[in-house]
Amino acid sequence: MRSRIAGTGSFTPERVVSNDDLAVLLDTTADWIENRSGISERRWVTGRTTTSDLAYEAAVRAMSDAAATAGDLDMILLATISPDHDFPGTACFLQDKLGAPGIPAIDVRQQCSGFMYALSMADLYIRTGQAATVLVVGAEIHSKGLDISPTGRDISILFGDGAGAFVLRAVDDPSDADSQIYSTHIHSDGSGAKALWAEAPGQARPGHRITVDDIEAGRHFPVMDGRRIFMNAVKRMPESIHEALDANGAKLDEVDWFFFHQANLRINEAVARRLDIDGSRVFNTIQRFGNTTAATIPLGIDTAVRENQLVRGQLVALSTFGAGYTWGSSLIRF
Ligand code: UT7
Repeated sequence: MRSRIAGTGSFTPERVVSNDDLAVLLDTTADWIENRSGISERRWVTGRTTTSDLAYEAAVRAMSDAAATAGDLDMILLATISPDHDFPGTACFLQDKLGAPGIPAIDVRQQCSGFMYALSMADLYIRTGQAATVLVVGAEIHSKGLDISPTGRDISILFGDGAGAFVLRAVDDPSDADSQIYSTHIHSDGSGAKALWAEAPGQARPGHRITVDDIEAGRHFPVMDGRRIFMNAVKRMPESIHEALDANGAKLDEVDWFFFHQANLRINEAVARRLDIDGSRVFNTIQRFGNTTAATIPLGIDTAVRENQLVRGQLVALSTFGAGYTWGSSLIRF
């Protein structure tokens, strides 16, 4: 038994935030942002929009693309680090919006690699015959959690809001299937846990999980050692692509499209150089959406589908790297 991507969907909020908009707030310039990250603009939510709202919009599009109803789903996996609430998991809120009671709804918290982890879990549930149709979603609202002041400028320029989703379906006879997930590969290294993290709220804080002092000191905002993350990403992502190819006896030049996590265009250019592949085979969306963490991979794939770039039958290699550290890859016949 194997799984295949039966449908894709994505959703981004209407509000466009340009580099010029951020330059006013962050003691930076539009050129600095563009030159160092490749980002021109990102989408940020307005009002009371929640992460599960974005997830819902992406999910219904993916379900429509796969001609699947809520009643067809056997499981929901939602990757996010920007949950609606601390608990219960955002997958439960999404499940309620979709009207799919009774099936397992699971949150996956693996930051930028969250969707890759969720995809791996969904694929393995299907391979073992425990599920036949699984909704996998990556959704984030970062704009409500950033330090929008000069102190947070290294991070706040990077992140955007958005969501992407796949419906995976079982393939009974993989030898006869022209569309399937060949393999997924996931890794972590907790020695890098504090290279990109938000210290509070958390039960590791002394006394209460968050205090006025924490908020005044900005411990609830993400902080990052950007250089360290950059260097590790450039090492691990090519490694993970080779792992996926080697596992399937495939070669770099057989791959039609590479979808890399969208943290920084410069990272993806460096990864392409290390792999010695033409940058035109890497589908990047960071220029318009910024880094949407767990949503970058499905948002990129759905965008490529809607723009008639990615078509059925093409060979696709995915790779992610992010906080934790976490990283992973997959080889897929789309
Ligand atoms: O998906 C999550 C994983 N995250 C990532 O993968 C992010 C990886 N890292 C990066 O993308 C880059 O490290 C950044 C874009 C965050 C920063 O670029 P950089 O070229 O590594 O800059 P830097 O951190 O080495 O800082 C260089 C200078 C510093 O000033 P000094 O100390 O040289 O005077 C920073 O204060 O740039 C300054 N700086 C800025 N200046 C203007 C940092 N952020 C900004 C800014 N605008 N927004």
